[in-house]
Amino acid sequence: MSKFQPPKGTRDHLFDSFARRRRVAERMLQVTERFGFRQVQTPVIEYFEVLAAKAGPDVAEQIYAFDDKGGRKLGLRAEHTASIARVVASEGHTLPRPIKVAAYGTVYRYERPQSGRQREFTQVNVETYGAAGPLADAETIACFAECYRAIGLTEFEVRISDRRLLDAVLAHWGVADPGEVVRAIDKRGKLADGAWQGAVVAAGLPAERLDGLVAVLSTGGDLRDAEAALAALGLADAVGPLVGDLRRLEEFLRALGVGDLCRFDFSIARGLAYYTGTVFEGAPTGAGQGFGAIGGGGRYDNLIEIYGGPPTPAIGFAVGLERVMLLLETLGRLPPERPDALRFFIAWYDETCQGFALEVARALHAVARDLDDARPEGSPARLHVAVALAKQPFKKQFQAAGQGGATHVVVIGPEEVAAKVVKVKDLATGTETTRTLAELVAAIPALLGPARC
Ligand code: HAM
Repeated sequence: MSKFQPPKGTRDHLFDSFARRRRVAERMLQVTERFGFRQVQTPVIEYFEVLAAKAGPDVAEQIYAFDDKGGRKLGLRAEHTASIARVVASEGHTLPRPIKVAAYGTVYRYERPQSGRQREFTQVNVETYGAAGPLADAETIACFAECYRAIGLTEFEVRISDRRLLDAVLAHWGVADPGEVVRAIDKRGKLADGAWQGAVVAAGLPAERLDGLVAVLSTGGDLRDAEAALAALGLADAVGPLVGDLRRLEEFLRALGVGDLCRFDFSIARGLAYYTGTVFEGAPTGAGQGFGAIGGGGRYDNLIEIYGGPPTPAIGFAVGLERVMLLLETLGRLPPERPDALRFFIAWYDETCQGFALEVARALHAVARDLDDARPEGSPARLHVAVALAKQPFKKQFQAAGQGGATHVVVIGPEEVAAKVVKVKDLATGTETTRTLAELVAAIPALLGPARC
């Protein structure tokens, strides 16, 4: 084994693993595009102050920070939201409203690596700027749910709460800094019960309110049930002003056809400090239950001002690719290892055959190019062409072709060169046919089959 490993909390993604991740990510990005989010790319490195602004102490502690050679304080992005907010704060006035942005790529957090938690991970992220209220919230949550549907997840729910609700309850109980308590609440499930209660009290919750808090956090379901439960806790007046927004959000989610996938769950606090309203997380149910959040997001109406822009309402989400890949794998729902393609491997006998082998490759590439031009954007290529790159016995070349995933081996020896024909072996059936190059090209649609065309 080599003494060099990828850094702790990072992974290499080779071949099949890479191809599967790409397909899953592309599915989600297609959904975001369908909802009108236009993709951008921002730098992986940012000024530290951009990354740390309002993400909160938990995330700030996890930032990979360093000074560059010019003494600038930089860091690796820990999420896409901060970078996109920086862009919108400085250039938002030039962009059409609402500003709907998608981003995809790696982010970095110095966390303790464990199953589904890495230091380098990948997010599919969207943000909408310039639209306040439950309509934009509902559209964002619908897009979030559709992303999961698009990758074949059927058993999941979107758990929704509102930061203002916990803030109102905590203020009603006399808590001076609800934000501190909310951050401590978010650690529930990550700490043992006693330690969590200690953290919440240390953050400012009066100890006699612990039972009440646990009762609020257990409240959820549809809004009517949640309202009744809050009223029974004597909190009807405290949360009353919010109920109109929550009702409309519920109504809009139903109208968009995702109502059955969503439920209110007032234990959703979300660790990031910038949220100001609706917050939500994606959680597997059924066989994936207990898996943890596979994505999350919320409304943050103050962040653009923090970056020096005008007051701009905003809402967005991020889905963690590593988590959804792990979940799909656990559920046996990973997309097939290889796209449904014809993969030719061109084997040749010796140097005298190389020229003809390359002519065959060129003819097959020409067909592949036409197929690529005709295929829908983002769908996998249907015809792959590889040429043997070293002189080896045919047996070895066949082995290499099989290991590389070839479906067909084109065999070119001196006889084929002389007769200007190719021998094609179908590796699945073992059948072998001899054809002219023109005949091979003409046979490709049939070889691809109706499902592949
Ligand atoms: P977040 O909850 O910090 O939100 O991350 C979103 C998702 O990224 C999580 O639900 C999880 O699936 C994944 N994730 C987080 N940490 C890790 C990790 N260490 N390893 C693997 N996956 C991880 C945000 O990042 C917000 N910026 C989302 C947002 C966008 N809110 C508004 N707009």
